[in-house]
Amino acid sequence: MSIAQQRIGIFTKIVRAHYRSHGRDLPWRKTRDPYRILVSEIMLQQTQVERVEKFYSPFLRRFPDLRALAKAPLADILQRWQGLGYNRRALYLKRAAAEIVTRHGSAVPRDQSVLAQLPGIGTSTAGAIAAFAFNTPVPFIETNIRRVYLHFFFPRRRAVPDAALLSLIAQTLNRKNPREWYYALMDYGAMLGAARKGAKNPNRRSKHYTRQSKFAGSDREIRGRIIALALKEKHLDETALSAKLHTDTKRIKNIVAALLCEGLIKKESRGLTIAS
Ligand code: ADE
Repeated sequence: MSIAQQRIGIFTKIVRAHYRSHGRDLPWRKTRDPYRILVSEIMLQQTQVERVEKFYSPFLRRFPDLRALAKAPLADILQRWQGLGYNRRALYLKRAAAEIVTRHGSAVPRDQSVLAQLPGIGTSTAGAIAAFAFNTPVPFIETNIRRVYLHFFFPRRRAVPDAALLSLIAQTLNRKNPREWYYALMDYGAMLGAARKGAKNPNRRSKHYTRQSKFAGSDREIRGRIIALALKEKHLDETALSAKLHTDTKRIKNIVAALLCEGLIKKESRGLTIAS
């Protein structure tokens, strides 16, 4: 056995042992329903597991299948999304559901490259859905997985590109049970992220590392507050929003223009409302 193979053997043993004793029992791991897994993976983009856990089941009770979500008014979906942040994901999720119904005979596609063409689904989310819903052995990377490979294989290198990590992810992939292997990797990565006393986050050594920008006072915060207001109030316009949010009209106008352009809100004679 080569040294490289030995290292890979030790690596998989450590990750699996951690999973056996500390694997997380998460609600979206109890289902094989591709729709439910799609919803979970969209919610988990840029959002902590603990937060998603609070929203996941109520959301699915209200939108139990693809068709229910595809035909639901956007306002209802956004209402259930309040608190998860990044509202655009809710719009994309509705559009993805509608596309699956109309173009894929209401069956979530199995193929990573087909999944990646759906709104709001990049290659990483597409890989996660293929692995978790269909147990397909596809290499993919996300924040927790990135941390694991940087920690084990690049402890001192800086600016490591994802391409280098993906090659290792492919070499270490468990072809028999990719689903469980990825659960194990994500749990190990989450542990490295949470329990690194003194040690620095390995993801700082990724070439693609960016910290989530500050929320307070950001455009992202104002976007969220405009959506929240549009969900509960009528007769909103830029002047009213500017007063309510204590933000200058020019900034409000720019953000409203972006929300209109993306299709989250629309302009009616009685004011701004959630798009349909
Ligand atoms: N289990 C399945 N998908 C997950 C994800 N994206 N993050 C954490 N745990 C998961």
